[in-house]
Amino acid sequence: MTINKTRIALFCSGSGSNFKALFQAIKNKQLAAEIVLCLSNRAQCGAMEFAEQNAIPTLHITEKQFGTFDEFAEAMVYRLKKHQIDIILLAGYMRKVPDAVVAAFAGRMLNIHPALLPKFGGEGMYGIRVHTAVLEAGETETGATVHFVNEEYDKGEILLQRRVPVLPGDTAETLAEKVLECEHTLYPDALEQLLSILNA
Ligand code: GAR
Repeated sequence: MTINKTRIALFCSGSGSNFKALFQAIKNKQLAAEIVLCLSNRAQCGAMEFAEQNAIPTLHITEKQFGTFDEFAEAMVYRLKKHQIDIILLAGYMRKVPDAVVAAFAGRMLNIHPALLPKFGGEGMYGIRVHTAVLEAGETETGATVHFVNEEYDKGEILLQRRVPVLPGDTAETLAEKVLECEHTLYPDALEQLLSILNA
């Protein structure tokens, strides 16, 4: 019997360490899923390179390639449908996803954020800025959150969170490193949960 694998698109802009962790975890956990597209606003980045090395189709798409934002959004939806995408995972994608894409993938799109949402989220809260804000606020713990994507930055329903203690002597850089390591197991676990929700 052949099982239809859930077709995943990863949206990335950076080094792609979450992409790599997800790719490996799908194999290790033998999930009935497959990463079939890497979409990026950057023609070259770690994630796009990793996709190319692993024969995963890539799509470099940005607003600048289109006359209007609506045309860009329409093209994105069209390409995702063409690749028969079931699930979108945002993994360090540093652009707002057009509302048309969010609507087309409601309940089937996740994002990972390097803090314990709803704290330290929203527009402009990404990368090292998040960890600097956590330290400045004197938090004793931080962590990572996987949540469903809706039209508002970092506001969709939370699927899974994992905590990381903030220790004396921690800097934004050490926190970034520890939280990223935590993300690499959290995101695969969240994907596994989403697959069981969708296949229930
Ligand atoms: C991750 O820490 C992810 O949580 C963060 O970007 C990094 C991407 O790393 N995302 C955000 O800050 C979104 N607001 P990666 O490219 O190595 O996976």
